[in-house]
Amino acid sequence: MAQTLAVTGKGGVGKTTCTALMIQWLVARQSTPILAVDADSNANLHELLGVNYQATVGGIRESARKEAQRLFGMAKQEFLDLRVHEALVEQRGYDLIVMGRPEGQGCYCFANNVLRDVIQRLAGKYQHVVVDSEAGLEHVSRRTLLTLDYLFIVSDCSVRGVRTARRIADLADEMGTPVKHRGLVVNRVPQGVLPPKIREEVEATDLRLWSVIPEDPHVAAMDAGGKTVCDIPEDSAARAAIGVLMEELLSAAPKREKPTLAVPAGGGR
Ligand SMILES: Nc1ncnc2c1ncn2[C@@H]1O[C@H](COP(=O)(O)OP(=O)(O)OP(=O)(O)O)[C@@H](O)[C@H]1O
Ligand SMILES: [Mg+2]
Repeated sequence: MAQTLAVTGKGGVGKTTCTALMIQWLVARQSTPILAVDADSNANLHELLGVNYQATVGGIRESARKEAQRLFGMAKQEFLDLRVHEALVEQRGYDLIVMGRPEGQGCYCFANNVLRDVIQRLAGKYQHVVVDSEAGLEHVSRRTLLTLDYLFIVSDCSVRGVRTARRIADLADEMGTPVKHRGLVVNRVPQGVLPPKIREEVEATDLRLWSVIPEDPHVAAMDAGGKTVCDIPEDSAARAAIGVLMEELLSAAPKREKPTLAVPAGGGR
């Protein structure tokens, strides 16, 4: 069964950047195949990965709704299976599927449930499923997340970002979202050193601090130039920090029991 990793957090904190860097790390490690899921209705993971897509799950859901009169039971299931497979963008080491936004009106319950099944069945064919989520709490309250092995709650280096991360974790708990491991990733930290106030905020949460990702000029340059994560040098601070985090989490290394708050310069822990 695939290991499922999802990235969540407040708007603009770096969720998509972190997701793309994680996919890149897994591909480089040949920890493949990977299913990359863009679950943000404003899809843009594909841009950071440098790929295009044609169809979205939202679009498929809409056509299933239109075809509802004609298709019954297995026929509908097969129709969805086929269309979802067609929507997969195949790349070296990973396939990308874009959820898109729900289109049109009407009751989506049936199609939504069937599609969740389709994606869950699809997920069984992969070693990892990596999900880039929409900003904020709504998707958590809608319970659109699959069962997760790792939930990365990303914050920027701000009090509000850390507090939002905490609220997301609390909501996921309240909703009974099945998450095996969850932790906090503080991104865009100047020189990779958490300011004392942010440290305090992190300590006030019950979240484990999984990673401190430095503010990285290579990431900024990538974005300014409309480039992809492949254009970020291997030894860049953000890429290196994601590498350390993934290595620690996914290797057999014993799990850390307490947040590590002493952060050396350069983004290590
Ligand atoms: N470590 C970093 N160093 C410098 N810039 C960064 C870093 N991480 C992200 N950024 C920049 O922050 C901006 C937001 O990043 P990104 O799109 O990944 O955030 P997001 O959380 O996915 O946003 P949204 O909520 O809109 O989906 C981008 O311009 C990105 O280049
Ligand atoms: Mg994003």
